[in-house]
Amino acid sequence: MIQATFLGHSAVKLSDGQTTILIDPFISGNPQATITADELGADFIVITHGHGDHLGDTVAIAKRTGATCIAPYELANWLGTQGLTAHPLGDGGSYDFPFGWVKFTIAHHSAGAGELGDRYVGTAAGVLIQFGDRLIHHAGDTALKYDMKLISERFKVDLAFLPIGSNFTMDIDDAVRAVEFIKPKTVVPMHYNTWPLIEADPEDFASKVNRAGHSKAVIMAPNDTIDL
Ligand code: NI
Ligand code: MN
Repeated sequence: MIQATFLGHSAVKLSDGQTTILIDPFISGNPQATITADELGADFIVITHGHGDHLGDTVAIAKRTGATCIAPYELANWLGTQGLTAHPLGDGGSYDFPFGWVKFTIAHHSAGAGELGDRYVGTAAGVLIQFGDRLIHHAGDTALKYDMKLISERFKVDLAFLPIGSNFTMDIDDAVRAVEFIKPKTVVPMHYNTWPLIEADPEDFASKVNRAGHSKAVIMAPNDTIDL
């Protein structure tokens, strides 16, 4: 069984009891986090883009655990210069790992790294993760885009994490349309209420999704876990 744990903002932990995959592990300085980065184990860390609220504690966690970092090409190269094991992926590219495969999807977003003076560190991505027999989609930071339909034309997503906080990403109504495009079995809102700029009501998102009836919206509080 795959377990998905929401860690607050856009940070997610996936585990099957043997392999642990972290996505965008922003814990230190994350007002929503209820754990510390030291408590997290990891075999793989997927980073959607270089912004600090996604790159987060990647370097410290990967140094401690020896986890392989899966990131956009330029960001992977930079992680390599930090002494980490990094696997580069391009937009649309996929690769088979021991646990399943990882495929980057297109995100419409910028991708400098604040820690590096907003230096460009590759494009921003979303990600599809085939973990065992479950398919998880984490959209990263993105605008709404018609390309999201390509995902449901080819794949059946079991669980999707979509940003709803607006200002930097989709707002609630855009994210409701994204759910129509992606057609996940279950969808979880993320990237909201971390700071005043991205205030949003997840109940509003959930009621709109659940009224449409195609997907089930679940609001996860930090440290909530879903069994897949
Ligand atoms: Ni961002
Ligand atoms: Mn962000």
